[in-house]
Amino acid sequence: MLKSRISLIVILLGLVVAPSANAQKSKRTKDNNTEPAVEFSLPSHETMDQKLERMRWWTDARFGMFIHWGLYSMPARHEWVKNRERLTDADYQKYFDHFDPDLFNPKEWARMAKEAGMKYVVLTSKHHEGFCMWDSKYTDYKSTNTPAGRDLIREFVDAFRAEGLKVGFYYSLLDWHHPDYTIDRNHPQRIDNGTKEQYDALNKGKDMNVYRQYMKDQVTELLTNYGKIDIIWFDFSFPGENGKGRDDWDSEGLLKLARTLQPGIIVDDRLDLKDVWGGWDILTPEQLKVSECPTWNGEKATWETCQTFSGSWGYYRDETTWKSIPQLLELLIETVSKEGNLLLNVGPTSRGEFDYRAQDRLEGIGKWMRANSRSIYCCTAAPKEFEAPERTLLTYNPATNRLYIHLIDYPLSRLAVSFADKIGYAQFLHDGSEIRFDKEFIYTPVVKPDTEVPVIEVFLK
Ligand code: GLC
Repeated sequence: MLKSRISLIVILLGLVVAPSANAQKSKRTKDNNTEPAVEFSLPSHETMDQKLERMRWWTDARFGMFIHWGLYSMPARHEWVKNRERLTDADYQKYFDHFDPDLFNPKEWARMAKEAGMKYVVLTSKHHEGFCMWDSKYTDYKSTNTPAGRDLIREFVDAFRAEGLKVGFYYSLLDWHHPDYTIDRNHPQRIDNGTKEQYDALNKGKDMNVYRQYMKDQVTELLTNYGKIDIIWFDFSFPGENGKGRDDWDSEGLLKLARTLQPGIIVDDRLDLKDVWGGWDILTPEQLKVSECPTWNGEKATWETCQTFSGSWGYYRDETTWKSIPQLLELLIETVSKEGNLLLNVGPTSRGEFDYRAQDRLEGIGKWMRANSRSIYCCTAAPKEFEAPERTLLTYNPATNRLYIHLIDYPLSRLAVSFADKIGYAQFLHDGSEIRFDKEFIYTPVVKPDTEVPVIEVFLK
């Protein structure tokens, strides 16, 4: 299991840094159009410029909240617990029978996300376990049939929208509960080193056609019954031996459906359609700090890294490897400095609350964002001619022509800058107090100001 997680991360990493042979086939022409590698025309066939325009709210936002919530919050030992411990449906049934999030108050969640400075949210509507958080017509395996007794998605969507956040759904392609979903190498009932013949025997009588239709019906529900949905996050493909890829999901069909029902929707890259123009909107490197803006086909890509506070996505009671507030801030700043977005995950408890550690981190981030978010929203990498001074990270707002110097390690009293001649005026961002400079240095007070990562806002000439 750990091996398969590692190989998944390696695959994703590979996809980010080294475009596959397939991807090379799709060439973008000079006028920014792309010739599709595969004959596949999407309803929203668009140029690169049109795509960037469609996604502008998202690139401006830079910071969103991921929420992994499902039955796995009860065992509280990873959202892959069914797979890891090879649990059967019967073993897993107790979680369904006892799921009772009596403290669920999505207005509180939305408030916390907003106060942390997040601009959008993506919630697991169904994770790999197959449990549905809404009142789907196509299954009994849903929240309304548990002691929860309610459509959790409905309340969630209303609450986040009311706070002004954009709303997205994560939808798992894997399904470890649906009777027609064939057992594969990532399934709880997998066979170690199983041959294709062994899997065929095991899967006799299962019909993936039924499951494919089930996914379409559910995606239709999610993208029809809850108003405007801004993002859909399909997860994930693992083509190859005893795996599943685009043909198993009918990825093209799912994507066309999503784009038809919600024109403008932003789609992740896990449908196994990387080599198709229009087959994805964002690269999604997971748990990674990238050293530069990831590229695709030799061009910079729109990208979002998703990250956990600790190791797992679902609530994990005994996990202690929580990132600190300064680490998380650095992650956010670093991501924006490389032109990306950060989707930071919370795994609520089975009572329906954010764990105290998550609340603590969100509050810390929010405190910093309140004073410094100008260096995040609508910002991107600094133009090439601005070299980051030692132990700093730079972001830049092209609309205001302001440069932001993030003091990751606070300097003793001054900072050598190679671009002093371009500075018109400089101030600390958190309190708007002047920062003096000459031809070589920016002079900082000896005492570090009371903000986790001080930022110098530079008005460029
Ligand atoms: C992986 C995992 C999953 C998690 C997701 C978040 O694909 O399977 O548990 O939801 O990453 O990016």
